Amino acid sequence: MTAVSSDPIDVLRSRTSEKWAEHHSDVLPMFVAEMDYPLAEPIRRALHAAVDRGDAGYVASANPLPDAFRGYTRRRWHWDLSSATLLTTADVSMGIVEILRRVTMPGSPVVITPPVYPPFFDLLAEAGASVAAVPLRDAGDGLRLDFAALESAFAAGARAFLLCNPHNPLGSPHSRNELERVADLAASYGVTVISDEIHAPLTQPDATFTPYLSVSASARASGFAVHSASKAWNIAGLKCAIMVAEGEGPVKVLDRMPFEVAWRTGQFGMLASVAAYTDGQEWLDGVLEAIARNLDLLDRLLREHLPEVTWRRPDASYLAWLDFRGRGWGSDPAERILREAKVALSPGPGFGEPGAGFARMNIACSPELLEQAIRRIASIPPGASAAEPGARTGPGELPAPTT
Ligand SMILES: Cc1ncc(COP(=O)(O)O)c(C=O)c1O
Repeated sequence: MTAVSSDPIDVLRSRTSEKWAEHHSDVLPMFVAEMDYPLAEPIRRALHAAVDRGDAGYVASANPLPDAFRGYTRRRWHWDLSSATLLTTADVSMGIVEILRRVTMPGSPVVITPPVYPPFFDLLAEAGASVAAVPLRDAGDGLRLDFAALESAFAAGARAFLLCNPHNPLGSPHSRNELERVADLAASYGVTVISDEIHAPLTQPDATFTPYLSVSASARASGFAVHSASKAWNIAGLKCAIMVAEGEGPVKVLDRMPFEVAWRTGQFGMLASVAAYTDGQEWLDGVLEAIARNLDLLDRLLREHLPEVTWRRPDASYLAWLDFRGRGWGSDPAERILREAKVALSPGPGFGEPGAGFARMNIACSPELLEQAIRRIASIPPGASAAEPGARTGPGELPAPTT
């Protein structure tokens, strides 16, 4: 395994992508889902070689990504996609919107399960659908899908379910049993399931990610999955994602997509994704170990400095969903934390109503930065501040998208 650690702070500050460019230099950026680690060596080599040969044109229709992805899913998850249809596009968000456009009618309700990745609200709007929110339910051992409420939403006319597997912001992969139940329910009510599996490669080795389409014939009959190497290998700016369909109906949907949808795939993204899926696992294992160490550290730091803040350790991803309600900082603790501690977290209310009082912290950074952030946050006294602004409750009221 390759040991992976954060780039030095001067390198990070010289980066021009969102995480290190959005805020003033006195702010510790722990919001957007970018990692502070250097790129995997196989990806660096693939990109340098492409630049050297001037290989920055359009992605060729015969390209090596589908085979590289099939090899990865077989090795990593024993998921055989040899007869599946794979179609690339620019990013996971675009894949979701393009599928939704074809499986819903204008205004159709589409289920999402807050607290959930904030842009899901916007993607439904972009596809012309309406939001049917079915909040996750407290199952005692964490927030899980609420099957009774899902069935009610399906019975009330939902046309599709945008599933987040593993779930962002909780970092929880859904179990095989849960996914089978989703597929059975979806089949009973004629609902299309789109499983966003972007965080799947970031599942820790002691946890299990189950691909939605692998669980049953009913899952395949009406389901899609959308994958990308962009989160796990930190290449979101290169624009490449893969839509997956296996059942007859979903395959037809992908086959009938306008040529332009695949044409928007980034060439560098395709080349980097091939390198990631083919030769990038050793680096990713190192990243998973660095994340696990930071999760241990976060646990210790919270106990020591912020004992009222509670959380559940994620099994997948580098995002920690922190419950600040015991600290008395109102519905949007991230706002106060940014203002008073100069630490940028993702505001909980953006994740839907159940996000009030929460914030999401990106811990894919150096242990030193994580420790500094927690110490800064802990220096804010508990309880309301004199300058407390009005409570924010809805995603539409937030200043910037969280990704
Ligand atoms: C669950 C989920 N889906 C989609 C995305 C965005 O992916 P993309 O940049 O490929 O659209 C993210 C980004 O963090 C995410 O967490």
